[in-house]
Amino acid sequence: MNVIYVKDSKEMSEKAASLLFSRMKTTEGQLNLGLATGGTPQGTYEELIKKTRAANQSFAQVKTFNLDEYVGLSEENHQSYRYYMNTHFFNHIDIPIEQTFLPNGMALNLEEECARYEQLIIDNGGIDVQLLGIGSNGHIGFNEPGTPFSEETHLVKLAQETKEANARYFNDQSEVPSQAITMGIASIMRAKEIVLLISGENKADAFAKFMNGTLSEQFPASILETHENVTVIVDEAAANKMN
Ligand code: F6R
Repeated sequence: MNVIYVKDSKEMSEKAASLLFSRMKTTEGQLNLGLATGGTPQGTYEELIKKTRAANQSFAQVKTFNLDEYVGLSEENHQSYRYYMNTHFFNHIDIPIEQTFLPNGMALNLEEECARYEQLIIDNGGIDVQLLGIGSNGHIGFNEPGTPFSEETHLVKLAQETKEANARYFNDQSEVPSQAITMGIASIMRAKEIVLLISGENKADAFAKFMNGTLSEQFPASILETHENVTVIVDEAAANKMN
């Protein structure tokens, strides 16, 4: 595992965007990116938009697959992850929108939707680079503590602390959906390369626990240590409980 220590979230975003940009430049043919939402990767998208514009680098050969989506929020809903991805990233680059995929949280049959999404990724050749954030409880995607490492894309009930953490994006905590569809740990681990971003004081305990290296389903991100190609980019605030 390659751990890169940086000063702050701006430097983390620049490093992550450089890594993604270099994969775009060196990949011949299609590149499948696994993407995340939330506060952490927002700067990475901004930097990647800037870099690709400056270099005239097209996304025509890129397909994207997001980790997760809330159940019951349409794509017009400003809190849906589809809306987040369109406004923070897809609307600013030349990717054909039909090459961007998220689980459909409005599907009538949610179990079928999970299986369809898993298969869609496989049929497209799998994910080349997966971008991840981490929850303060160690979740990745919406895989909360206790999720079996063997899970593929599945329906989840959100943990109370995740609902509280995400409430900042809603008018009221009662509006936070209680279910989501997420890629599973097994789906994430099939990515050829993983880039984990960790930023901010509120992630310091999670990072310390991650680095302590105990493999446990009670701390989902711990599985990443067993993946052969992981880069962690962590800022000073998140790393400050390591000394
Ligand atoms: C988002 C996702 C989540 C977040 C995590 C951290 O698609 O899957 O696991 O990465 O909750 O969120 P932030 O970055 O908002 O602290």
